[in-house]
Amino acid sequence: MRSFLTIRDCTSDQLNELLTISHDLKKLYKNGGRDLCLSGKVLAMLFEKTSLRTRVSFQVAMYDLGGLAIYMKPEDIGVIGQREPAKDMARVFARYVDGIMARTFAHDTLIELDRWSHVPVINALSDWSHPCQAMADMMTIQEHLGRLEGLKLAYVGDGNNVARSLAFACAKFKMKYVVASPAGYELDAETFTVVNQMRPGCAEQTQDPVAAVKDADVIYTDTWVSMGQEDEKEKRLRDFAGFAVDEALMQHAPKAKVMHCLPAYRGYEITDGVAESPNSILFDQAENRLHFQRGLLKKLMSSTR
Ligand code: CP
Ligand code: NVA
Repeated sequence: MRSFLTIRDCTSDQLNELLTISHDLKKLYKNGGRDLCLSGKVLAMLFEKTSLRTRVSFQVAMYDLGGLAIYMKPEDIGVIGQREPAKDMARVFARYVDGIMARTFAHDTLIELDRWSHVPVINALSDWSHPCQAMADMMTIQEHLGRLEGLKLAYVGDGNNVARSLAFACAKFKMKYVVASPAGYELDAETFTVVNQMRPGCAEQTQDPVAAVKDADVIYTDTWVSMGQEDEKEKRLRDFAGFAVDEALMQHAPKAKVMHCLPAYRGYEITDGVAESPNSILFDQAENRLHFQRGLLKKLMSSTR
């Protein structure tokens, strides 16, 4: 495994290994230990979009492992390819640093960076997927429910990058995945085809949130307006009416854990009451971004150069 662009392209064994490394490192760091496996190594962090969790957790993870992270903010790089081609940026960065992580609009930008870089490339969110988020989520579910296999994850909301990465994760970890989205905002058919080929019967689509959350172990939601969709905000808020994870929906799955990748827009896709309820594991998810990414960086970067 050289880079980490999408869960779809990893084997279940590779993903389980990443989770094991991450859980082990989490224990080590919680007990005051340190693993300086990236001493002298540098990660370039390229952001076309804003970030709180991803930027800070990657930067802290690099520090924790003895390395350095360089943050390139949206104002520094703009949209990759506009000032100079991704293939040039990849080759330049790869001569300076030991790893590149990038948050992009187009997923193809990540593929292009990876094609031309001889150091690992990590997807820190693209319009198409958010694999580090979904893997930190899997880690969090393991901690709260003790396993992944056989669990049902219901995703209520936009069929977006986060929904897609969760679909691949559910297939790889043998979970059941049901997505409830309004018409026009479904997860794409190709993702369903791929996921159900990986694991027959894994994923289903519905327009009924109540049906989706029935018997769910985990209920997940994300913003209705992803980064880059701000112009569609008013229409989206109208179209998603009835798809909030609120107290009424939770009555149909009162024991389910509630997840959200954050940032959460309370009063829209989730109510403040649900976000702050005992079912909510939102901040454990956010914390596990750090722990998962430490594991990922160790796996990808400790043997380079
Ligand atoms: N969940 C997540 O990726 O958050 P940021 O956009 O703040 O990085
Ligand atoms: N779907 C959201 C996730 C933010 C972490 C977005 O792409 O903006």
